[in-house]
Amino acid sequence: MCYNSGCRGLVSSLLYFSAAALFLNAASPRGNVKWFNNLEHVNTARLNEGLGGFEPGDPAPGFEVHTLDGQFTYTPQNDSKRVLLVHAFTNKSAFLECLWTTSESLADLLEYLPSNTEVLLLSLDETAVQDALWMREQALSAAAHRGKEVLSRLHFSPVPIYALGNWIPRVLYSWGCGGHNCGLAQVVFSSPDWNLPVISKRLNARYDWLNGRWGSDPYTLQEAGDGCGPVASLEGAVAWISEGGCSFFTKIKNMAESNASGVLVYALPGNPIQDMNCVGDECSTSLNIPASMVHVEPSVAQALGKGRPVNITFQITPSPNFFFAIDQKGALSEMGWFLYPTFRFMAWQAEWFSFSEALREQLSRPAVSVSVFDDHLMRGDAGAQATVDLPEDLLAFNGLELEAALSCPGRRDETCAHWDHTVQLFICCDETSIYCNLEIGRWITAFRRGTGHWLTDVSPLIPFLNAQKCSFTMKTAPWAMPWVTSLNLRFTHNNQTGNSSETLRPFTIMPLFNGGTFDKDYNSRYQEIKFSSPASTKKVELYAVITAHGSDENFCGEFCVTSHHFQINRSINNSLVFESAGSPLGCALRVPDGAVPNEHGTWLYGRGGWCDGLQVDPWRTDITSQLDLTETNSVLYFGLFEGRDPNPQTEPGYIIMYSYLVFYK
Ligand SMILES: *[C@@H]1O[C@H](CO)[C@@H](O)[C@H](O)[C@H]1NC(C)=O
Ligand SMILES: *[C@@H]1O[C@H](CO)[C@@H](O)[C@H](O)[C@H]1NC(C)=O
Ligand SMILES: *[C@@H]1O[C@H](CO)[C@@H](O)[C@H](O)[C@H]1NC(C)=O
Ligand SMILES: *[C@@H]1O[C@H](CO)[C@@H](O)[C@H](O)[C@H]1NC(C)=O
Ligand SMILES: *[C@@H]1O[C@H](CO)[C@@H](O)[C@H](O)[C@H]1NC(C)=O
Ligand SMILES: *[C@@H]1O[C@H](CO)[C@@H](O)[C@H](O)[C@H]1NC(C)=O
Ligand SMILES: *[C@@H]1O[C@H](CO)[C@@H](O)[C@H](O)[C@H]1NC(C)=O
Ligand SMILES: *[C@@H]1O[C@H](CO)[C@@H](O)[C@H](O)[C@H]1NC(C)=O
Repeated sequence: MCYNSGCRGLVSSLLYFSAAALFLNAASPRGNVKWFNNLEHVNTARLNEGLGGFEPGDPAPGFEVHTLDGQFTYTPQNDSKRVLLVHAFTNKSAFLECLWTTSESLADLLEYLPSNTEVLLLSLDETAVQDALWMREQALSAAAHRGKEVLSRLHFSPVPIYALGNWIPRVLYSWGCGGHNCGLAQVVFSSPDWNLPVISKRLNARYDWLNGRWGSDPYTLQEAGDGCGPVASLEGAVAWISEGGCSFFTKIKNMAESNASGVLVYALPGNPIQDMNCVGDECSTSLNIPASMVHVEPSVAQALGKGRPVNITFQITPSPNFFFAIDQKGALSEMGWFLYPTFRFMAWQAEWFSFSEALREQLSRPAVSVSVFDDHLMRGDAGAQATVDLPEDLLAFNGLELEAALSCPGRRDETCAHWDHTVQLFICCDETSIYCNLEIGRWITAFRRGTGHWLTDVSPLIPFLNAQKCSFTMKTAPWAMPWVTSLNLRFTHNNQTGNSSETLRPFTIMPLFNGGTFDKDYNSRYQEIKFSSPASTKKVELYAVITAHGSDENFCGEFCVTSHHFQINRSINNSLVFESAGSPLGCALRVPDGAVPNEHGTWLYGRGGWCDGLQVDPWRTDITSQLDLTETNSVLYFGLFEGRDPNPQTEPGYIIMYSYLVFYK
């Protein structure tokens, strides 16, 4: 409970009924109340089913809502080009307040929202009219220096969500959330002089630069000015400091040095809550202290000023969901986790819908498809296993694609495995051959999102499928929560173009090198391999799938830049460099290639040859011109960190690699 003006939002929810009634009388544009009629447009049977009834993947019924400009109408669609994102605003969330007040966040909305995407902006509260006008004003002012085209795709509704009269509240309420920047993060202040505690919305500092986490026991609060200079010991207390005067980093560092247990930075009156972050060089110092930003609470300031004790605890009150989407097929979709307050997360989700649509188009191209796994549970040591019949006329194909999808045991992302793990696909067509149990595909699972769907061209590996029946095993870490896997092999002809080099067919594969522990002896374990090309070879390709994992003191191999070299005849280097490993948005920029966006983890950073929620792309290099096809040639592999042999001083990372020479005729 809450009694002062600082938490007006919470108190005013008590006025819910009267305010809503006022609104219906006063603010219905053109005197009509069409949203009452919306029941006619939805499946009324569903409305009677209790609070379930809409799950991700279900078709979205049509609806209409009033907007500031008139009416927004959604008609059920399937295979349209259009995407609709729905956002439910409430100023009871500090995260959403920050999302709408930070100029970078608003700029991201204007800059990155794909052109096929519209956004319906709603408010959960009785202040919906003001909220809609304010959100529009925020978008307009951000658009002042930019192209305004996107504004025509933003639809602001003054009708509060509880008065929509359609199915939208059901989705928002039943897909509700209790944390991770959805849900209402709050600080509870109490003092012996008060009858009731004061409850304030809070936004924790950006996730990645402070190591501290708030505990569940009460903390005592202590006034500490603006935190820009040293203060006396705050041992055991949380520092209460004002914004301004110096950077958030300086304040929090000073408070850490005063031995504070945590920091509450309050916004000065009239200022919004900000996403507290480090800037530039500051970010290389890690601070072991939690910090949050709140609005100034006059009663708290007064109590501290009088030397009265104030205690604080931290809580999260569950809320309706703030986001959902309707994709091009008219299906409802979750939007995942917004890791920090920027509309870029909305844009990433929309970009992924575009990827997904392009993938469906690719999948509609002619191919002979062989189903290996169809919603097969993959878990434990055994993983998923199947033996399948291959097409009889295998020689007629020179293309092979893996269509893989990973979903979760339930329909919501909350049922998905929490961690990212490597998934490998092994094939065996002849148990007596060297070709048995070789890896032909690799993916990395998403953090708790079940939408991954990828198409990987593995045409050079066709010679592995040299039998009528082959066994496939797909595995991830045996201790990982289960995934539900689907896998199709797609056989294609590539003779449409009449380009003879494209109609060459791989006929022999020679295994080369595997990875290993990325330590100082890494390269001494590799020996030069001599080879001669089989008769009638027309082309030779180097084919490798390499990913770097683990974390030594240089964050190798997951987050350090490693390079991988295949040297032909001791003279020509063929090099693969993981340039984007460790970069802040290295994997976020791969969303258009199918990286699952808005995962419940740090999916954004670039990694050593891989991204969470993405296939690992095979690296292919035509080396025909580097060889003398009539002579013996040689190939040697080595892997480097910053151009040198690795030399980790702590637990070394490791490289997972398979590499082949593929001979075509
Ligand atoms: C769209 O159409 C496809 C094929 O007819 C169907 O499988 C799918 O369920 C439909 N999607 C929705 C959301 O209705
Ligand atoms: C949101 O809440 C804060 C304080 O709680 C207030 O200063 C701000 O004006 C509110 N914004 C809107 C749009 O209501
Ligand atoms: C305030 O917090 C301190 C430290 O955790 C604790 O000892 C004290 O009992 C708390 N007081 C109240 C009134 O909760
Ligand atoms: C913080 O704690 C350390 C270790 O107990 C102590 O050496 C230091 O003087 C303290 N700093 C302040 C400002 O109290
Ligand atoms: C491509 O090759 C296959 C197998 O040889 C043949 O059946 C098919 O007709 C060819 N397609 C074209 C467009 O030439
Ligand atoms: C034929 O295909 C190869 C490989 O895709 C390409 O490098 C080459 O330029 C193409 N040649 C012509 C004439 O299109
Ligand atoms: C190949 O790469 C290694 C490591 O960067 C380098 O020492 C060597 O000079 C390179 N060789 C050629 C021919 O470029
Ligand atoms: C590669 O080296 C071998 C000897 O190791 C030599 O016979 C062959 O001609 C060389 N190939 C080329 C293309 O230089």
